[in-house]
Amino acid sequence: MKKDLLEGVHNAIQELVKINPPSFLKTSFISTGLAIYGAEEINAIVDTVLEGKLGLATKGYEFEKEFSKYIGAKKTLLVNSGSSASLLAMEGVKKYFDINEGEIITTACGFPTTLNPIIQLGFKPVFVDVDETYNMTPENIENALSNKTKGIVFAHTLGNPAKIDEIMNIAKKNNLFVLEDCCDAYGSKYNGKMCGSFGTVSTFSFYPAHNITLAGEGGAVASDNLEIDKIMKSFRDWGRDCFCNAGQDNKCGKRFDFKIGDIPYDHKYVYSQIGYNLKPTEIQAAMGIVQLKKIKGFNKKRKQNYQDFKEIFSNLEHHFELPKINPKADPVFFGLPLTIKNPKIQRQDLVKFLNQNGIGTRYVFGGNLLYHPAYKNINHKICGELEQTDKIFKNSLWMGIHPGINKEKIDYIGSKFNEYIKSIDKAR
Ligand SMILES: Cc1ncc(COP(=O)(O)O)c(C=O)c1O
Repeated sequence: MKKDLLEGVHNAIQELVKINPPSFLKTSFISTGLAIYGAEEINAIVDTVLEGKLGLATKGYEFEKEFSKYIGAKKTLLVNSGSSASLLAMEGVKKYFDINEGEIITTACGFPTTLNPIIQLGFKPVFVDVDETYNMTPENIENALSNKTKGIVFAHTLGNPAKIDEIMNIAKKNNLFVLEDCCDAYGSKYNGKMCGSFGTVSTFSFYPAHNITLAGEGGAVASDNLEIDKIMKSFRDWGRDCFCNAGQDNKCGKRFDFKIGDIPYDHKYVYSQIGYNLKPTEIQAAMGIVQLKKIKGFNKKRKQNYQDFKEIFSNLEHHFELPKINPKADPVFFGLPLTIKNPKIQRQDLVKFLNQNGIGTRYVFGGNLLYHPAYKNINHKICGELEQTDKIFKNSLWMGIHPGINKEKIDYIGSKFNEYIKSIDKAR
């Protein structure tokens, strides 16, 4: 590639981005999540395509190394979504601990694909309630333990850390694995340590609404357990036995010396798991490397936005509850959750009003997944009442807090909430 030609392309892209910036700089709608990127990311993608590198290769490994450093895990594997990450994590612990059935303590308050692999891989979910942090509590987990319990699976909801070190203690005492879904929580800390550095395996999503994005989709699994990492890699890469990275054929030296029975067989095509293909592309990794360099700045802005939102909602505390934050938690919120306190406020009416005024909202994913059609007939157990989960199902919502939002937009959101409250007061 001629260096000066490529420089010209980079400069042209930089100029184009100035004239026609990515949508987050143009839109007036305050969305719940946005991919925030510029010429550096576009140039990284263009370079990768021009190099002819499309399938996962060296940029993928570079991203994995850098992400491991960021999270504080020994190994990261890049995958094509946060949902794939949850599936791989469950396959990894299932194989490593050699378990095929049993109970897994989890929550119904969350994203479906945190829960789904429990069901898909033949385990029985045992649902416990969450508290005002929107997370499962160590007390509820302890109450749900039985001699069939194999593991604990949960997400730090919307970036608000659960009491993860207490949860890890329960797991250690009872020989359980923990899958820590950090799709919404990378950068959040508990007791000074990164979320994602505690669990047996932790999972991440790089879908555009998240803290960083990888060209549209992406995810990762991270673990300190090198054996589980190896198993997950095999499941990710079609189930193959060989652990050589793509583009590093025969690094293991076994490729042409392997036999299935008496038949010499190319080790590259020997399968030790019934696997999937959950790999992302090199293009995604190239964008990810640039995004990862920006993550600290992105997260700083999210934390500032949370402070500004807190100020606004401290004047509305009779109407809405902000999330409780555990004493040792230091969250980087993915979204700002609110639970309606004032019985006069109808959630559906409020979100319509906000939408009409250019403010996006979401519910807390499934709220209580057990009410959704897909889960009507699943084999499960509920331990205790799901009182807070139901409250969230009926009365909670969240708004964007991402770096595309600033003080001016937060003040505008505050003014619209106040206008809405006045309108319902008047209607009384
Ligand atoms: C907590 C949680 N887990 C898992 C996922 C799934 O991630 P993905 O959309 O990358 O599959 C999401 C998606 O936003 C999520 O919020």
